[in-house]
Amino acid sequence: MITETRDHKQIDSQYLNSNDFESLMRYFNGLSNETKRRFGPHLFDQQSVMDFYENGDQNRGFLAIDTKTNAIISYAIIKQGFQSRLQKYGLKLDNQTDCTFAPSVADMWQGIGVGIAMLHFIISEIQEIGINRIILWGGVQSNNVHAKNHYLKAGFKVLGYFEYHGQNEDMILELKV
Ligand SMILES: CC(C)(COP(=O)(O)OP(=O)(O)OC[C@H]1O[C@@H](n2cnc3c(N)ncnc32)[C@H](O)[C@@H]1OP(=O)(O)O)[C@@H](O)C(=O)NCCC(=O)NCCS
Repeated sequence: MITETRDHKQIDSQYLNSNDFESLMRYFNGLSNETKRRFGPHLFDQQSVMDFYENGDQNRGFLAIDTKTNAIISYAIIKQGFQSRLQKYGLKLDNQTDCTFAPSVADMWQGIGVGIAMLHFIISEIQEIGINRIILWGGVQSNNVHAKNHYLKAGFKVLGYFEYHGQNEDMILELKV
């Protein structure tokens, strides 16, 4: 799906395919340590990424591509499956209708609407397969103000808090039918 960033660059949101793995490695290599620290659903080497998708048929990868250079500028994961810490909220979690979500945007592309464009694309795709709630995979660090604003703006609500290298917040987005 082609959309424009706030500064009028064209990006194409799409599914990750196995032939994207090499350019995904270039994307990871270009991420700052700070972005890597905040986004860690799997290790960043090619074998770990391949294992992640080969052994987890519940894992779906999504990309945004800069249409000018064909470089990956955003990578996000949707997983149907849950972390045990979410049980404390008393949600009735269902692999068919709930998922967890981990997004990342290349440092130079953050703050211009790429994350929101990707989220809109992902929502339209996962609604097709019956998913109606998105929960943050690893929560969000309470000091990650940018990401928190991004999620709140997208309609996520805070579920609660947990400690892991400091305070983190669990958030959930109920998708409208
Ligand atoms: C979190 C992340 C995925 C958001 O994507 P993004 O493309 O930067 O976000 P967007 O540009 O779509 O921002 C949407 C909203 O976020 C907020 N936001 C954007 N830039 C911000 C900034 N510099 N400071 C505070 N809030 C900001 C605003 O509310 C913005 O709304 P607006 O469009 O009305 O200004 C991305 O910044 C990222 O990869 N960060 C590093 C890794 C990370 O933190 N991942 C999430 C782990 S939980």
